[in-house]
Amino acid sequence: MQAYVHLFSPIFKYLGSKERRVSGVTTKDQLLRYLKENRPEWISGQWLSTELGVSRAAINKHVKRLREEGYIIRSSSKKGYVLIHVSEAPLPNEIREGLTTRVFGQADIHYFQEIDSTNTKAKELAEKGAIEGTMVIAESQTRGRGRMGRQWYSSPGAGIYTSLILRPTIPPLAAPKITLMTAVAIAEALLSQLDLDIRIKWPNDILIQGKKLVGILTEISSEMNVVHYIVVGLGLNVNTPRRDFPPELQNIATSLFMETGNVCSRARLIRGFLEQFEKYYNRFKQDDFHHIVARWKQLSNAIGQRIVVDIRGEKHTGTIMDVDDEGGLLLQEEQGKVLRIVSGEIEFYDSQRDANDYCVR
Ligand code: BTN
Repeated sequence: MQAYVHLFSPIFKYLGSKERRVSGVTTKDQLLRYLKENRPEWISGQWLSTELGVSRAAINKHVKRLREEGYIIRSSSKKGYVLIHVSEAPLPNEIREGLTTRVFGQADIHYFQEIDSTNTKAKELAEKGAIEGTMVIAESQTRGRGRMGRQWYSSPGAGIYTSLILRPTIPPLAAPKITLMTAVAIAEALLSQLDLDIRIKWPNDILIQGKKLVGILTEISSEMNVVHYIVVGLGLNVNTPRRDFPPELQNIATSLFMETGNVCSRARLIRGFLEQFEKYYNRFKQDDFHHIVARWKQLSNAIGQRIVVDIRGEKHTGTIMDVDDEGGLLLQEEQGKVLRIVSGEIEFYDSQRDANDYCVR
């Protein structure tokens, strides 16, 4: 636990609240690339200065910035520079390292040390015309938002708080499918990297043993028949120790650290998510939602569950029969009537450890 605190503290100390926006390759990016490629060898300052076409003073300035971002770089007047440790922060450069997507993570990434809400920022950018694939990511959120007007607790430097801008040509009624699709994408990314017993709870919470690990908030701007944009926001508890959650969340929330005992690389997890997200989004655009729902059903614990669902304040009790190819939940009520539900909040009947109250109202 001590190592965890030590690991992240330099980043908080030095990174300001300024936004770091990365699209093109900067001199600092190139410098980092050389340092990574030559690891564990030293590179002379003169060689870097000639190769990058900038002064020795400029090299020094970029090295200082990289150190502020959490990279450990040793310097020597005789030998030059050597990279000792890569930053633990989910910086755009680290997310893009080996990323195989074409769109997500390749368009602008807006990285913040602190922000009110990545979804709010993404909506603001989308209003200004930001393209599909634009990403907002933050180390901490002061007003992270959850579903149903709740708050999302964002442990600083320990979680993934990110939002993606989408511009699909779909009718607004098809937008809930993106929510289900996102849950499948993040579940696949987690399962490909870690041995976890995860379950999707309709429509898109991800739980481990009834405790909430991931929340997804999808927001849409549309007219009757046209979607202007969709913002998909993802909150994933990665390296948060139990004691760092507020007391009211300690028994209903979990993190990857709590489940595995290991500190996980957030950049690697985001990369995995972006790759899975793009794969499923392409399938979705090719009208292959049937297979996405099929995978969702395998990953969820929904079918056959007795539940109470809250639809705009009205409670319905019944058994989940199925999830249809549009992502709607089919609930058979006690009297036999089948309801089709497209949005609402599920309370599991049998579970003591219910994660519905994960978000603080
Ligand atoms: C929920 O389970 O209620 C959804 C929580 C979604 C939280 C994420 S964190 C990143 C993004 N920005 C926000 O303000 N909310 C989402």
